[in-house]
Amino acid sequence: MTRIRSVRAREVLDSRGNPTVEVDVRTEHAFGRDIAPSGASTGIYEAVELRDKEERYGGKGVRKAVHNVNNVIAKHLKGRDVVKQQEIDKILIELDGTGNKSKLGANATVATSMAVARCAANSLRLPLYEYLDAMSHLLPVPLMNVINGGKHAGNELAIQEFMVVPKGAKSFRESLRIGCEIYHELKGILKEKFGATAVNVGDEGGYAPPLKKTSQALDVLVEAIENSGYEKEVKLALDCASSSFYIGKTKTYAIDGSGLTSEKLIEYYEGLVEQYPIISIEDPLYEEDFQGFAQVVKRLKNVQVVGDDLLVTNVKRIAMSIKNKSATALLLKVNQIGTLSESIEAANLAKRNKMSVVVSHRSGETESTTIADLAVALNAGQIKTGAPARGERTAKYNQLLRIEQELGSKARFGFS
Ligand code: PGA
Ligand code: ZN
Repeated sequence: MTRIRSVRAREVLDSRGNPTVEVDVRTEHAFGRDIAPSGASTGIYEAVELRDKEERYGGKGVRKAVHNVNNVIAKHLKGRDVVKQQEIDKILIELDGTGNKSKLGANATVATSMAVARCAANSLRLPLYEYLDAMSHLLPVPLMNVINGGKHAGNELAIQEFMVVPKGAKSFRESLRIGCEIYHELKGILKEKFGATAVNVGDEGGYAPPLKKTSQALDVLVEAIENSGYEKEVKLALDCASSSFYIGKTKTYAIDGSGLTSEKLIEYYEGLVEQYPIISIEDPLYEEDFQGFAQVVKRLKNVQVVGDDLLVTNVKRIAMSIKNKSATALLLKVNQIGTLSESIEAANLAKRNKMSVVVSHRSGETESTTIADLAVALNAGQIKTGAPARGERTAKYNQLLRIEQELGSKARFGFS
């Protein structure tokens, strides 16, 4: 009854209008579908997203990855038990055989792996979060990206993401409302100060105002939080995505119109943390700098230091970080490693070593809500899925609202 009958892929679109891979998995009675997301500020150690590099879609077509699902993966999954996620993911890893999914494409494997889990949950008539972990009950605090910079926006802000963190809320529903109210207050402030074009949005639904300096963005954010009356409930988080403003030649970081060494950049972060209620900083230094990250952990004692491009959801790199004490939290993106089982393994390794886990979307997203269920299943306590705007972002927030209602009195909310 739970044997896989068919696996079928097709090329669909992501939120930036680029092609991506969608996979359908069917058993006799059940069906599961999922879609691969796609990053813009991708880490160099991430699993490889297979692109056709042909004329169509400016080279971004994914017909090869689709072909790999329909002609290679499908054959090997047919007849397998859909509820054996680890076994199936192992087949995907072995079929690829490269260590970075460059043969089949991580876009092919991730969509398949997640569609398998969805089909399995459906065949057992369970919600996905409960199928992944029957004990799951913790709704995550949203890290809501309301000002976009870096590679996600056409402005001059070096830092990629300015997030509000309504951690003082009593429930997920309340945290979302608070974040939303601040988002709209911020819109008014930006419009008034910088004109109507300042509220155009970037890739993750946050505003992309024509600001130059980090402190300008933080000032308007603080103003929006104060005007809304949420100073107590709301803190701030940054994703610097600093590999995107690191200049290898001079070993400096181009930020706020100057070139800072890593030592000076850490001092700069110390100043920001003193002045603003920042509780979390992601990728403060470029993706190879395990030692520098360790300095950040030491010097910014009360701040969560998150590894995204540094760790790429890869157990080998997480182990390296544990050894060097380079990060206090793992940013978890399923498509960075290419299967659900490997992502869960990465989260478990991080948790066993007292690291926090932040489940994350990509800047190129889809209508898939899987990461919402995954965040609950992992009891992660934190999710990063953009502004409370644009359908591909609200899809995840709305799914968390449904899960919270479904869990009823069992639901808890907050950092883990
Ligand atoms: P990306 O951005 O999906 O473009 O990599 C998200 C992030 O850096 O966290
Ligand atoms: Zn990041």
